[in-house]
Amino acid sequence: MGLFFCVIGHPIEHSLSPWIHGQFLNMSGKQGIYRTLDVPEKELGQTLQFLKKLEIDGFNITVPHKERIIKYLDELDPLAEQMGAVNTVVHKEGKWFGYNTDGKGYIRSLQSEYPDLFVDQTDKKALIIGAGGAARGIYFALMDSGFKQIDLANRTVERAHQIKSSNISTDVFSLQEAEEQLGIYDLVIQTTKAGMYPNVHEHPLSPMNVKHRAVVSDIVYRPIETTFLAAARASGARIHFGHGMLLYQAAFSFELWTGIPIDPAPLLTPLEQKLK
Ligand code: ATR
Repeated sequence: MGLFFCVIGHPIEHSLSPWIHGQFLNMSGKQGIYRTLDVPEKELGQTLQFLKKLEIDGFNITVPHKERIIKYLDELDPLAEQMGAVNTVVHKEGKWFGYNTDGKGYIRSLQSEYPDLFVDQTDKKALIIGAGGAARGIYFALMDSGFKQIDLANRTVERAHQIKSSNISTDVFSLQEAEEQLGIYDLVIQTTKAGMYPNVHEHPLSPMNVKHRAVVSDIVYRPIETTFLAAARASGARIHFGHGMLLYQAAFSFELWTGIPIDPAPLLTPLEQKLK
């Protein structure tokens, strides 16, 4: 019998996960299916009961269920616990195990394009713009990867204070303050929804003062090149697109389910085409 996976979310019809995991199944030579399940908040419990009976091999869980899923799990990975959110559930011998591959996926995607960022990273300064679930995941994964100075900037400054860990050095700024001192950072990561389709002309702050050759990254992938990234490129930064994160977090999920490591790099260009 083949493998059976799905992604649960609401809305979910535009999810790229079925395409990505279909490619991974082909690349690994495994038989299986991966489907979307559109589940509104009030139907989550009932749907999970049904999936348990079906003995699904694993599933992804996305907005708006990433936090609420936790109470239905038997065990939780420490990173997912730290983040308070799960995006991947593994079924093993009747038990459900929760993980979060978003932050790790993001770091792997960045590392594969800019390995130099992860050499002597204890001397480098990073700034994360935004303080939602995505920012939190990236903050902890970046900390795990060895960064010791990770600052946060958000429209609502109080939310950024809530992410701060005492294990590293973190200063919190307003968007305007961050814009003024952008030149001190080696890595700037934009995680807010500003600039996401259809609000393509928005950006949280101007990257004009960015350090020459700093890496500026945006996790928004619709459009692939946001207004923020285009301005950063014009200001001399190296840029990193958001769709890589989508592929690498999926590869980590697939590996958790099957034990098969996947290099998703060959899918970057085909995914770019799909997003155009
Ligand atoms: P996610 O889980 O995807 O990160 P979220 O929890 O809704 O989403 O967080 C969205 C982030 O985008 C927040 O940092 C939000 O800022 P606030 O905390 O001040 O709300 C930020 N954001 C959304 N729209 C924005 C905009 N137009 N300009 C600047 N920041 C914006």
